[in-house]
Amino acid sequence: MKGIILAGGAGSRLYPLTLVASKQLQPVYDKPMIYHPLTTLIEGGIREICLISTPHDLPRFQQLLGDGSRMGISIDYREQAKPEGIAQAILIAESFIGDDAVALILGDNIFYGNNGFGESFRDFTSGATIFGYHVQDPERYGVVEFDEEGSAISIEEKPQYPKSHYAVPGIYIYDNDVIEITKGSQPSARGELEITAINMEYLNRGRLRVEKLSRGFAWLDAGTSSSLHEASAYVQTIETRTGIKIGCPEEASYRSGFMSVDQLAEIVADMSICEYQAYLAGVVAEAMRS
Ligand code: G1P
Repeated sequence: MKGIILAGGAGSRLYPLTLVASKQLQPVYDKPMIYHPLTTLIEGGIREICLISTPHDLPRFQQLLGDGSRMGISIDYREQAKPEGIAQAILIAESFIGDDAVALILGDNIFYGNNGFGESFRDFTSGATIFGYHVQDPERYGVVEFDEEGSAISIEEKPQYPKSHYAVPGIYIYDNDVIEITKGSQPSARGELEITAINMEYLNRGRLRVEKLSRGFAWLDAGTSSSLHEASAYVQTIETRTGIKIGCPEEASYRSGFMSVDQLAEIVADMSICEYQAYLAGVVAEAMRS
């Protein structure tokens, strides 16, 4: 399975923070936001990743992440010239996806808990898998409606009157049919290729699976100044309490078997002395002991 991270948009709700660095490069406590979706994909066993951003911001991501080899993965970069919808990422990355299945994740979605999405990625065979997460303010998101048996029966994008409290987080798993489905979809009234329309098409074909994320799972939004601050506070609280970092791609890559402990040790040796380096040195030391 391939992975796509969509880190587009103007980030206008975070102005003036986003005047020079995009939303997904802003710090969430001790790391750039993009480290979180990147780690989520790596934890899911995905090592071929395509990062899509605006022509203005793409060079910054390249500067930050390079070709990915430093993290035991490979990263391709593609431009989204205009913000024409999440589903457009599928078309931009068509040649990257090739004949594979693909996991698409939004660059500002932060997930934590329950061993991530590993099983959902590993068990995926065909169709589409999306998720449902109970939120207080579903009208801000794509919203899934379930029948009495718990089967999804509709998905609406930012409905004025939501039919449930289950929002669809920005992580979607598709088989290769997503390319054909996206090519056949029309832009919405706001001129975007909507991801909800793609999910609805899978639902209409009887090929959509919606997994409810459990209470112990955290899905954080970092799109406004307040939610960015809350996400930072959350990450700081958990990291300080446990001594384990959230959203650390190098560690995830090592734990997913994408690099050996020796490779991780080399990366640590090349890093300037800082808290992040000390943390990874601790991961290496622990691995060497066991
Ligand atoms: C997008 C999707 C929405 C989804 C959300 C998750 O909304 O359109 O269905 O629930 O991401 O973050 P946006 O963040 O572009 O408003």
